[in-house]
Amino acid sequence: MGAARFVIVFSMIFVTGGAGFIGSNFVLDWLAAGGEPVLNLDRLTYAGNLANLAALQGDARHVFVRGDIGDAPLLARLLAEHRPRAIVHFAAESHVDRSIRGAGEFVETNIVGTFRLLEAARGYLASLPESARAAFRFLHVSTDEVYGSLAPLAPAFTERHPYEPNSPYSASKAASDHLARAWHHTHGLPVVTTNCSNNYGPYQFPEKLIPLMIVGALAGQPLPVYGDGQQVRDWLYVKDHCSAIRRALESGQPGQTYNIGGGNEKTNLAIVHTVCDLLDELSPRADGQSYRAQITHVTDRPGHDRRYAIDARKIERELGWRPLETFDTGIRKTIAWYLANPAWVQGVQSGAYRDWVQKQYGAPTEARA
Ligand code: NAD
Ligand code: DAU
Repeated sequence: MGAARFVIVFSMIFVTGGAGFIGSNFVLDWLAAGGEPVLNLDRLTYAGNLANLAALQGDARHVFVRGDIGDAPLLARLLAEHRPRAIVHFAAESHVDRSIRGAGEFVETNIVGTFRLLEAARGYLASLPESARAAFRFLHVSTDEVYGSLAPLAPAFTERHPYEPNSPYSASKAASDHLARAWHHTHGLPVVTTNCSNNYGPYQFPEKLIPLMIVGALAGQPLPVYGDGQQVRDWLYVKDHCSAIRRALESGQPGQTYNIGGGNEKTNLAIVHTVCDLLDELSPRADGQSYRAQITHVTDRPGHDRRYAIDARKIERELGWRPLETFDTGIRKTIAWYLANPAWVQGVQSGAYRDWVQKQYGAPTEARA
């Protein structure tokens, strides 16, 4: 009889922030596509919502744990217990306006939390046999905002564009990107980083431009456009972002970064006009007026970046990724989703989901869906 051989059988991926907007879309799509079971760690801040994952209730392939990415003992225990083959790191404070009002949580979660997660992944990796180590990936989900603002005719951001973050949010994400880079370069952690443009789609919290406009228009509220509304963003339907992350996880090279974008540069005012016009068609106002009548120009965001645009040719060329939705098809689907899901909107607006989380869990602790 030969010596006993231990074979590590990876059976899971570990997702952080999987109850948020992009994370929940990712988990739903991943499992729908027949991916391995998911361990989902989320602190359930105001932005985390288990209603996004209601379709997975009772599904043994989804293990939900309420907890903080900054909790090192919890991370070590979860990794040792569940032995994931990859970490997909979405958890973050994500709203620029909130970061301007107070940056503390952004520093704690986006920088310190990411540091703790990288350290936990490093410790876990060291515990694996060499064959298993080679297969492991840490996918760090980041943003195009780390590159700063573009002049009107400047070429779109490539992966080689210098980092020039301008908001507390983007500075905290840039710091996390640098940590992820260093943990690869110095410690050999197999990190793949993605930098994506503005997402929109189902389950986006109505503090961000598109859902804020949809929900506000239907409620008869003013639609606040910052400054002249001529700032440009490059919009991508969330499910296309999720498919890009799946490609990067499958075939992305450790140490590489991949820009992700839809090639849909639009001014904010054009976005708001489109939302109003589609609502005029799909859910007209009772008085026959256009929702455009509700648009108001308000004081600009401090330090407001004028333009973002993504050059996504690297991920297209090297990983064969392409978005499936155009802006026209994606925005129509998004508005249809918000119209079809008033209970979800009502829940996040009333804070009922936070009350439920408080009743169900009390202080952050562990739970399984
Ligand atoms: P979101 O705010 O909707 O969700 C963030 C999730 O992280 C929430 O579920 C929240 O509860 C959780 N979370 C926050 N702090 C945590 C902590 N300390 N521990 C565990 N969980 C915590 O954000 P989103 O829009 O889904 O963005 C997800 C990721 O994608 C972020 O890293 C963001 O920077 C990045 N990103 C977002 C966009 C976009 O347009 N929304 C574009 C590019 C990149
Ligand atoms: O570019 C990717 C980033 O996109 C992500 O990293 C961020 O997590 C995400 O929040 C988003 O950041 P933005 O600041 O671009 O998104 P937001 O939806 O907050 O705003 C989009 C644009 O609309 C921006 O130019 C500000 C403007 N705006 C926003 C709000 C909320 C308004 O004019 N009025 C508003 O009420």
